[in-house]
Amino acid sequence: MNKIQIDKLLEGVNTLGIVCNQFGDTGKGKFVDIFASWADIIARGTGGANAGHTIKLGDTEHIFHLIPSGILYDKEGKINIIGTGAAFDPAVIMEEIELLKSTGYTYKNLLISRNAHLVMPQHLLMDRIKESKSDGKIGTTGRGIGPVYVDYYSRNGLVVNDILNKEIFVRKLKKNLNDKTTLLRGYDIAQIEEIMKHKHLGSGKFFDAKEIFNFDAIVDAYMEYGKILENQITDTDSFLREALGKKKILLEGAQGAGLSIDYGTYPYVTASDCTIGGLAKGVGLKVSDVDLTLGIVKAPYMTRVGEGPFPTELGGTKSAEWCGTAGITKDIEKEKFPNASVNETDEFVQGVGIRKAGFEYGATTGRPRRTGWLDLPFLRYTTQFSSKDLIITKLDVMDECENILICNAYTYEGPDFNLGNKILKKGIQIKIAIPDLEVLKYCKPVYKTFKGWLTSIREMREVNQFPEELKAVISFIESETDCKARIVSVGPDRDETIII
Ligand code: GDP
Ligand code: IMO
Ligand code: MG
Repeated sequence: MNKIQIDKLLEGVNTLGIVCNQFGDTGKGKFVDIFASWADIIARGTGGANAGHTIKLGDTEHIFHLIPSGILYDKEGKINIIGTGAAFDPAVIMEEIELLKSTGYTYKNLLISRNAHLVMPQHLLMDRIKESKSDGKIGTTGRGIGPVYVDYYSRNGLVVNDILNKEIFVRKLKKNLNDKTTLLRGYDIAQIEEIMKHKHLGSGKFFDAKEIFNFDAIVDAYMEYGKILENQITDTDSFLREALGKKKILLEGAQGAGLSIDYGTYPYVTASDCTIGGLAKGVGLKVSDVDLTLGIVKAPYMTRVGEGPFPTELGGTKSAEWCGTAGITKDIEKEKFPNASVNETDEFVQGVGIRKAGFEYGATTGRPRRTGWLDLPFLRYTTQFSSKDLIITKLDVMDECENILICNAYTYEGPDFNLGNKILKKGIQIKIAIPDLEVLKYCKPVYKTFKGWLTSIREMREVNQFPEELKAVISFIESETDCKARIVSVGPDRDETIII
């Protein structure tokens, strides 16, 4: 994919949004990096360090959690923005800045919204304590995301600007910690201490055996962050509104529509709206300001990390439990299933085989990603919130797969269910997913089987080189969802990309 092709695809576009139509990890990092060559400004406006966006350049892999994936273009003067809707953890930024420095990259044009939500040790602690109980576990990334947005909505949150004003910071922090310490006193202090020893929580320096939080240590650390970051903290909302129509703006989504707090599989979701609506709002724009939204879709398989419904999961609950077991790593899977391939007859092992072939291990947590077949009812649902323009990624992972299944509908197999003023009855077919747990858990996929293409597509750079079997899969996705594949991705590298 070269500059001429990008310019042609984006003719007339000033503001472009890249979002995910599934459950995250579809290749946003790769595509934001690609389109950063076109953009002047790259901005994130949702989520926080729960994201893990990978950019592969030859043998080097860069994984960004909080810094936008356009940062590798900083030296060329491109501006990267962490917007107001994002959850900003200064400790993570420090780590990412160090990583950039050590690899010869710069961050001089990185701007941080003065109103972004401030992530603090108490958020990570609350997140991890809640997750340590099996009841109500979401399988979060442990980055404090839920609690930081809870504070925001309970009107008790801190914002980035507070780290520039000690008195205000101290006052707000006291208030913020008040309720939390009362609640935390009901927990085992040894467990709290253990959690707070984690390096993401300052390796124990924010813990106090009596008060739970070492107030002064938190104030000192955050004031120090303020000194380091003060020149980068600004009103990014106004900056972006001012740039609208004059500069090329690229909006980088985080997570995916299936994880959106507003549209996802609630309560197994993250805490911000991951659709283009949430993203535009999160950077201070209107959704109508976005000229083109490209929604990424992994195909012909898909993944999900953490708990939550996944009707097409290979191996069903066995897979969900295995992937949700603490301590399962890439190496353990390799040892336990050395020969698992994408063609296994046992569904669970086939899921492992696809995971291995696609390197589907979390970029943030290292957890195995649950794998399953592409779910078109879900895609029909999520594309209502992005656009009909798709980027299809990971096709190459299934190069050796003999039989490919695509879910084109669900059969509802549960008891009668009152769905508003309708009754859902056993046996009915559902073409557009209903994002309700009580429905999804009884949805059995109806599959259509396709012959695999059984050849490597990684070297192919034009769609007309594609085998007929692959063309059939892409056309089926397009016609069944009424979407258009604008780009297909045949490998993780920048050039392994084809514009249709
Ligand atoms: P993100 O969260 O959406 O940015 O995605 P992640 O970075 O978490 O996961 C996507 C993974 O797939 C990364 O390791 C990418 O390098 C890789 N990737 C992206 N596109 C492709 C592709 O078309 N084929 C293959 N094999 N890997 C890809
Ligand atoms: P990117 O941007 C995949 C999932 C977690 C969990 C749920 C809630 O790399 O696609 P949270 O920590 O946000 O409270 O966790 O959301 N999750 C992601 N899954 N990709 C992500 O980001 C994710 N960010 C959060 O696994 O199920
Ligand atoms: Mg990711």
